[in-house]
Amino acid sequence: MSALMQRIRQDHINITRLMDILDAQVGLFHRGKTPDYNLMLDIMHYMMNYPNIAHHAVEEIVFEKLMDLRPELKSQAREITRQHRELAEKAHAFTDDLQAIIDGYSIMVRDQVEREARYYISLLREHLRQEEADLMPAAEQVLSEKALRAIETSIPDMTDPMANKQALKEYETLYKHITNEE
Ligand SMILES: [Fe+2]
Ligand SMILES: [Fe+2]
Repeated sequence: MSALMQRIRQDHINITRLMDILDAQVGLFHRGKTPDYNLMLDIMHYMMNYPNIAHHAVEEIVFEKLMDLRPELKSQAREITRQHRELAEKAHAFTDDLQAIIDGYSIMVRDQVEREARYYISLLREHLRQEEADLMPAAEQVLSEKALRAIETSIPDMTDPMANKQALKEYETLYKHITNEE
């Protein structure tokens, strides 16, 4: 498997793990318990700083090339790209509301925030499922190793902040959750 596709798959594994953690926190919220708001915020900041930027950007280049070679996948690839925008918007809105709750400014009722979180998690899970089931296998089939390497080098900063030592301080807790080091 090309390094680039391996990287995308690893990102998906990490994102899935983070969504499971977020889901569990939302479950606490639902049962009237206090979730770990800071952990939820860390997850959302990570989502906005890495997957919403670098991960989506690289996928869009891969899927763009895929559409040229497999035109029958055009509508699905376009829908996935549209979902990237929606995911980014929902992540921002949810993070703002979460921050407002933490700051005590929010007049939002709990179920509204819960609905927002559940929608985001399910949209993202379904998004990953479609990429893994259809677009990525097709991309691996039709794109050459050389083409994939060229895409990889065209993205200036595809370093996952969780894998970057300098940024690790900020994401240390998340990294531990993902690797079950706690
Ligand atoms: Fe994606
Ligand atoms: Fe993805």
